[in-house]
Amino acid sequence: MPVNVLFAANETRWAEYEAPLRTALDELGIDYALGIDMPPAEVDYIVYAPNSHVQDFTPFTRLKAVLNLWAGVEDAVGNDTLTVPYARMVDDEGLTQGMVEWVTGHTLRHHLGMDAHIVNPDNTWNAVAPPLSADRPVGILGLGELGSACGQALRQLGFPVTGWARSEKKVEGIPCMTGNDGLHSVLRQSQILILLLPSTPNTENTLNADTLAMLPEGAFILNPGRGPLIDDDALIAALDAGHIAHATLDVFRTEPLPQDHPYWSHSKVTVTPHIASETRPPSASRVIAENIRRGEAGEPFLYLVDRDAGY
Ligand SMILES: NC(=O)c1ccc[n+]([C@@H]2O[C@H](COP(=O)([O-])OP(=O)(O)OC[C@H]3O[C@@H](n4cnc5c(N)ncnc54)[C@H](OP(=O)(O)O)[C@@H]3O)[C@@H](O)[C@H]2O)c1
Repeated sequence: MPVNVLFAANETRWAEYEAPLRTALDELGIDYALGIDMPPAEVDYIVYAPNSHVQDFTPFTRLKAVLNLWAGVEDAVGNDTLTVPYARMVDDEGLTQGMVEWVTGHTLRHHLGMDAHIVNPDNTWNAVAPPLSADRPVGILGLGELGSACGQALRQLGFPVTGWARSEKKVEGIPCMTGNDGLHSVLRQSQILILLLPSTPNTENTLNADTLAMLPEGAFILNPGRGPLIDDDALIAALDAGHIAHATLDVFRTEPLPQDHPYWSHSKVTVTPHIASETRPPSASRVIAENIRRGEAGEPFLYLVDRDAGY
């Protein structure tokens, strides 16, 4: 009997995902039916985006797993009707690679002071060379799949990288701190700070007036993690006071960022529209298909969400 796979995401996604999902499922020799509309009681797996129309999982009585298309799960992890295994997206070839490129590019922009040369209306010859990367300590809050990969890329460029996670991580060449003392130690040494934490009740406002004040004068902040990680008013105050040199923000409490939000017009803020990294259909489909194969073979699913931790 075929496994029934329901694709539940924003409608436009179906056109992008149908063919890659079929290819990936075929490649693993899975006997399946795939569609965007099937009787809930017959669905075995849901390929899922938390903003889809499926919010009540109760009618899916034989569901074996929900397989997220996104890395972030904060919009579904508290759903009491989602009781089956719930896997998030980890995709080295697509999602992770995209994040490494975004983080590396924006880090180098600030490290090299590129803005001064790109926007130089008075043709000023200001021959100040930037420091070498070895003299620019970087901190990464969240040393998981994405934080570790970004840390490795920056380390290979010569930046001294220190990470912070909930539990101690072993990532080659990147010391990992934990706990509040660890956070404060990372903040005090980070001239460039990168936020790659998930959004959970414990990570909300990780950057607030107190923690922002611990960063060195003139530090840069990159937030491709989630909007609630930052207390926006405190960040704007720290930028206005000159303590923080610039913040490059990809994620916000409200998205799209409202037109009247002060971030849009702030000279020390760069807004990117939640594009730091996107799930790429071909590689993400292979991750989904592998988890379905595992489910059918009775093997443990990959990348299961820890409901208690919220990510
Ligand atoms: N902007 C975008 O386009 C985009 C794209 C993809 C993902 N994201 C965001 O990036 C986030 C990270 O993704 P990921 O795949 O790297 O997730 P992950 O592998 O789960 O890593 C999360 C990291 O954060 C740490 N952490 C969680 N709660 C913490 C706490 N209370 N204190 C200290 N550290 C804590 C974890 O610690 P442990 O290692 O100890 O568990 C882990 O190191 C996602 O949740 C999502 O919000 C954004």
